[in-house]
Amino acid sequence: MISPYKPDVQVYPDPAPKVKERNRWHFVCRLEEVPEGGMRPFKVGGRRIVVARVGGKLRAVANTCPHEAARMSDGKVERMWHGDRVGEHYQRERCVIVCPWHNFEFDLDTGGSVSEPERMRLKTYPVEVLNGEVLVLV
Ligand code: FES
Repeated sequence: MISPYKPDVQVYPDPAPKVKERNRWHFVCRLEEVPEGGMRPFKVGGRRIVVARVGGKLRAVANTCPHEAARMSDGKVERMWHGDRVGEHYQRERCVIVCPWHNFEFDLDTGGSVSEPERMRLKTYPVEVLNGEVLVLV
């Protein structure tokens, strides 16, 4: 279902807001507009973010990779893969967003890079769902 608010129109192409409204909750879309296992880009409060939905939980992170500035929304979201032994791989509860350019993975809860959390990090934003509306604190 397409939102009557047409959030995509607010996103790309980017109608840069004249006043950057920060530190407040912004409506971005209806809950059903973010598919399970998927994500959608938005521009809110003058920032580019991506809202991802994995395991029924919503997370919002910056949409620009801290490595070489790829658009994270062109990547993918998935549960993190683990392996205790060679040839054994399984997915855990932690979820990651994978950069489309060099496949760096970032934890969707902390924003930290899986391989170098102290060096590279995506900014994370609080997300709430209120009456079926997705709100992000930016
Ligand atoms: S630009 Fe994202 S990992 Fe290189």
